[in-house]
Amino acid sequence: MYNDLSGNAVSVTRDEVREAWNETVEAIVSHDASAAERIARVLVLDPEFALAHAVNGLLLLSLARADLVPAAVVCMDEAWRAQSERSISARENLYLQALEQWILDAPRRSAAILEQILTDCPCDMLAIKLAHTLRFALGDQAQMLLVLNKVVPAFGRHHPYAGYAQGCLAFALEERHLYAEAECAGRLAVDLAPRDVWGRHAVAHVLEMTGRAEEGMAWLADRRNWAHANNFSLHLTWHHALFNMEAGQFAEATALYDESMATDCSDDYRDIASCASLLARLEYEGIDVGSRWEDIANRAERRANDGRLVFADVHYVLALLGAGRVKSADELARRVVDDSFANSSDERRVAARCGGTVACGLLSFQNGDYVAAAKWLSAARSTMSDIGGSNAQRDLFEQVYIESLIRSGDDEQAATLLSHRLAARMGKNRFALTRLNQLQQSSVRLGALSTLTAASTKSTLH
Ligand SMILES: [Fe+2]
Repeated sequence: MYNDLSGNAVSVTRDEVREAWNETVEAIVSHDASAAERIARVLVLDPEFALAHAVNGLLLLSLARADLVPAAVVCMDEAWRAQSERSISARENLYLQALEQWILDAPRRSAAILEQILTDCPCDMLAIKLAHTLRFALGDQAQMLLVLNKVVPAFGRHHPYAGYAQGCLAFALEERHLYAEAECAGRLAVDLAPRDVWGRHAVAHVLEMTGRAEEGMAWLADRRNWAHANNFSLHLTWHHALFNMEAGQFAEATALYDESMATDCSDDYRDIASCASLLARLEYEGIDVGSRWEDIANRAERRANDGRLVFADVHYVLALLGAGRVKSADELARRVVDDSFANSSDERRVAARCGGTVACGLLSFQNGDYVAAAKWLSAARSTMSDIGGSNAQRDLFEQVYIESLIRSGDDEQAATLLSHRLAARMGKNRFALTRLNQLQQSSVRLGALSTLTAASTKSTLH
């Protein structure tokens, strides 16, 4: 047994493997593009390292691809085989159990097992990161914050992973709307660990949700800060494009899409979601995105049968609709709805209940039935976090809802939501301000709106 960088025992028999494992863990928590390669190298060096097999399987499942599940099962088998060859610690054994539960379609139990590790080993950064990833996908924002609040004090400032722990805390705080605390933790994360793209990303979320577009663009201006990152860099580019849009720089946002996002896009659901989400937002601002939907829809079509993550499915529906592939989108939406009461996992049923409702709203919107779209999307609002993802990502569906209200003539409800939206974002939100102004100017019906929105529209666009 050797100790890893966190001081936890790892069942390796050579220092060379311990070193390679430490590098692998750092690569995973920093979203380094070399993580998969590094874990493969560890397993070549030490095929009896059960923990590495288990973590490999957990990483494969986090990609939410049906075609990778068999490979994760092989990792599971290899982990148990290795465990029978060499005794492992109770901590390592919990990783194997976590993988087993996720393979059995019980991701919440898997997350709970990973969090159980933290009772005795609060500085196990890998367990923190994997549990955080799972809770994020499950929409368990409260649990995400509870866990981080509990473990982060144990890191202090000098632990090698202190910055990465702060980065996770920052994101958990941001998702609970604790923006000042989140920004503080996120900036500290990057100070302590400059490679912590997750902490950098958390600050970007704070700047997005508080309407600070110029600061956001400055924060993400130097791409060298995440040159090491895997396809998470595409998501950071998405955030930059949102800041461009908020600042009214639609040509710049479109250029970022063309020059970076479209060229880097893979079949990974996070890439497809970021690309589809930006194209939809551009369209809602009246920008003609031309044939850009085609490639994203092709990628969505290839993944449409995965059925692994409702958040992904809803974005696939969005991408298919963007390209006008209504039949494919309708079929996928029906499958998601079916999963809300079919023999699927508890987690999938809950997520599908909301995701299926959102998908129906997107279909109605595409068909021009804005009354129905508003009804569907209104019904989904109170449980929206069930589909997972971040508040900023799910905000797209709030935008479609408000657009549906406006297009169906429910100006009063639209104005109420827009005013609340503006207040929540410190009076700075282009989406709200432009629409409130349009509502005030467009119809005699808006006499009733003038009082409601007068205070809000005094705020200025960037
Ligand atoms: Fe994000």
